Amino acid sequence: MITKTAVSVSSSLSLFNFNGEHSRSVPFSTHSVSFGRKENATVVLCATKGGNNNRALTGVLFEPFEEVKKELDLVPTVPQASLCRHKYVDESEAAINEQINVEYNVSYAYHALFAYFDRDNVALKGLAKFFKESSAEERNHAEKLMDYQNKRGGKVKLQSIVMPLSEFDHADKGDALHAMELALSLEKLTNEKLLNLHWVASKTGDVHLADFVESEFLGEQVEAIKKISEYVAQLRRVGKGYGVWHFDQMLLHGEAV
Ligand SMILES: [Fe+2]
Ligand SMILES: [Fe+2]
Repeated sequence: MITKTAVSVSSSLSLFNFNGEHSRSVPFSTHSVSFGRKENATVVLCATKGGNNNRALTGVLFEPFEEVKKELDLVPTVPQASLCRHKYVDESEAAINEQINVEYNVSYAYHALFAYFDRDNVALKGLAKFFKESSAEERNHAEKLMDYQNKRGGKVKLQSIVMPLSEFDHADKGDALHAMELALSLEKLTNEKLLNLHWVASKTGDVHLADFVESEFLGEQVEAIKKISEYVAQLRRVGKGYGVWHFDQMLLHGEAV
């Protein structure tokens, strides 16, 4: 009934309540606007055209072929320039490249830890497995950032990665606890870098980048910090002897929680 009433008023922008009442009409250029005033009634906005007026509601409707003209002028013609880049500032591009470097550095450090714990005279296979998987995970993070860089029309620029340590034994703590404390510090550092990336996104008004960092990285980073903190606490309890072997077995068989 409402629709029928709305269609019958040609070239008008009308507000109706569900009883189809309109108590007031306000002239709107060549159109009219009507308001139903029944209290607590839901109102429906209808825009119709027809009758003897076929003109668009200039200034109200989106005029794509007019508005796109300025965008058309900005479509790059040189092959070196990205076509998809839109609202993506240089600072964000640089910050993504920095984060790629952070992830690769952490991945490299974890790979070194894997190699250490996999030695025949160390032979903590659970820790070796944990750091091998962690290394792969950090590399995946780097790759995810590379995908994003390309998606936004930036250019991936890989930078140098630092040579990691190769010995991880510690006179007081032993190697397992020392390594896990190192991992905890690296994860916190990564979190700090991610927060910095998010800050760049917020500062430049890049909502898409901010959402990407939040949804793909920040939650997982907090989880990783919690998990590694628990490993540090458990290793502090067990000391350097049999307890470490037992902890390592839990990691190896996926029983550590
Ligand atoms: Fe990471
Ligand atoms: Fe991580």
